[in-house]
Order: sequence, then structure tokens, then C-alpha cells
Amino acid sequence: MVKMEIITKSDKETKKAGEILAWAAKKKKNKSLIIGLRGDLGGGKTTFTQGFAKGLGVKDKITSPTFVIFKKYSFDGGNFYHVDCYRIRDAADLAELDFNEVLKSDKNIVMIEWAEKIKAILPEDTIWMDFKYLNNNQRKITLFTYSI
Ligand SMILES: Nc1ncnc2c1ncn2[C@@H]1O[C@H](COP(=O)(O)OP(=O)(O)OP(=O)(O)O)[C@@H](O)[C@H]1O
Ligand SMILES: [Mg+2]
Repeated sequence: MVKMEIITKSDKETKKAGEILAWAAKKKKNKSLIIGLRGDLGGGKTTFTQGFAKGLGVKDKITSPTFVIFKKYSFDGGNFYHVDCYRIRDAADLAELDFNEVLKSDKNIVMIEWAEKIKAILPEDTIWMDFKYLNNNQRKITLFTYSI
């Protein structure tokens, strides 16, 4: 099992990291792809998600879904869901939203901020990333080859 840390020195760099991951994610076939983001307030999760969406080819502007819990976008090849669990307690709060279907559809790539809150309903092969606020311009992103 491997873990790697990346220090980004600007929001642009964090967006670029997201774009790179999207390039790999676009190669997925016949299966949903779930990416769980954890870590500090202001750690760069939304910024990373914006870069990721750009890398997928999403044309719409990605704004924080905090008040709606999740937003759906489309890209050439499927749907991209941006989810923010900051304001919910746990997975029970998503029960009425057909969220399990979102997680299952092979057309979907789902990126979830504060994903640890709903870990109980996320698949075993969820990709996890940690975001840490270092100082005004620096963030540490930790990538894992295993579930955390
Ligand atoms: N290296 C960096 N990477 C990402 N964002 C940075 C960086 N340096 C400064 N910033 C700024 O920090 C803020 C990061 O906030 P962002 O909304 O992405 O964090 P978040 O993890 O989504 O926070 P929240 O938990 O509140 O949703 C942005 O205003 C961004 O411009
Ligand atoms: Mg955010």
C-alpha cells in the first residue's frame, strides 16, 4: 500500500492536480467511479473539484453545492456529480435523494467533499484523498492506494 503527498503552492496548482486525475478517471469503463475528499475547511477540496471537472470537459462553472448537497453536470462520456456533505450528519440524510442510484450508475463519476461522513454507504473501491491547510497559499494533498 502506497501513500503520497503533494504540496500545491497556489489554487492554480490544486486545480491542475484535479485536471490530471480527471485525465485518468476518463478512462474508466462500465463502472461508476467514486472519489472521497476529506480534510480541513478551506483545504482546497472545491478548488480541486473545479480542476477535475475542467479535466473531464465539464463546460459549466462548478460552484459549491453546500446548500443543495449535490449537483449534476454532464461531460462527453457521462455525468459528473459534485457532492458536499458538510451540512449533513450521516448517510441517513441522503436516504430520500436516490443517492445510492447515483453511486451505482456506470455513467457516473462522483466527487464527494466531507465524504467520511457517509463512508458507510460508499463502495470499497472509493478513491480517498486528504486535504490539509498549510498556510495562506499552500495545501497538502495526500493520495492513497488503499481505503482510509
Ligand atoms: N494551494 C492552494 N490550493 C487550493 N486552494 C488554495 C491554495 N492556496 C490558496 N487557496 C485558496 O483557498 C481556498 C480553498 O478553498 P476551497 O473552497 O477549495 O476549500 P474546501 O476544502 O472546499 O473548503 P470547505 O471545507 O469549506 O468546503 C480558495 O479560496 C483558494 O483560492
Ligand atoms: Mg468546499
